[in-house]
Amino acid sequence: VPRSLDIIGSKTKAVAIIELPEELREFEPEIANAAMKIHKNVRSVLAKESGREGEFRNRRLRLIAGDPDTEVVHREAGCMFKLDPREVYFSPRESEERERISGKVADGESVLVMFSGVGPFPIRIAKKHDNVRVTAIELNPRAHNYCVENICLNRVEDRVSALLGDVREICPKLGRTYDRVLMPLPKGAHAFLDVAMPMLREGGVLHLYHWAQEPDLFSGAEELIARCADGFNVHLETLERVKVSQYSPRVWKIRLDSKLIAS
Ligand SMILES: C[S@@+](CC[C@H](N)C(=O)[O-])C[C@H]1O[C@@H](n2cnc3c(N)ncnc32)[C@H](O)[C@@H]1O
Repeated sequence: VPRSLDIIGSKTKAVAIIELPEELREFEPEIANAAMKIHKNVRSVLAKESGREGEFRNRRLRLIAGDPDTEVVHREAGCMFKLDPREVYFSPRESEERERISGKVADGESVLVMFSGVGPFPIRIAKKHDNVRVTAIELNPRAHNYCVENICLNRVEDRVSALLGDVREICPKLGRTYDRVLMPLPKGAHAFLDVAMPMLREGGVLHLYHWAQEPDLFSGAEELIARCADGFNVHLETLERVKVSQYSPRVWKIRLDSKLIAS
């Protein structure tokens, strides 16, 4: 029996992504057909073939049953995200985290979402708040194209602008600062702190995602932030330390929220 089954899509068309232990490989067709029988909306079943890899954080997914066209429109909290999980990063499990972040945004804020993927954070934020301005930056052209399409699908063109490219190149050219900067790239976001920090206005909030190991989950990220802040002669105060999700027995995805208190 698969340990995990993620369903991405809508009531009319979805894909299931399963993780099968090697010893169950010979039963793949039966397991996939059972998944499609139980979940009537599932048209394709994909097996995880790797962990998340490379800069785009995709994983290799192998079609084991159903329709080879795996592009779907995922529904979440009144939003629609069109995507093909074989081409881009997307996790339906992160919906609650998106809810928590969009709940922190205040009306009138300007928000920079680095590493924005197909746009779930920018769109959830823009759907919840009429008068926010969100800038989204993504390196994977396929994810960026979906983000542009998703902005239209969700009718938030007036609030979200999507830019294709490397945050390291794009951010310095934006020529402005933001009330809030999101860094949703747990594996490696800290390497871009020097890019993110100058994007914060005084009083602005930074959300850094990070992989961390027990028992001391937060001090590593806090030190990285403090060291980077020193270089810019600024100070950031920790607002919140959050255990977002568990990756393996001792490893967590954490979020550290910090406020720029002097520039
Ligand atoms: C963990 S995924 C998160 C995507 C999205 N925020 C979400 O929650 O679904 C990280 C994303 O960052 C993008 N990325 C990686 N390095 C980048 C860079 N230097 N500049 C812009 N985007 C980058 C990847 O292509 C990937 O889509």
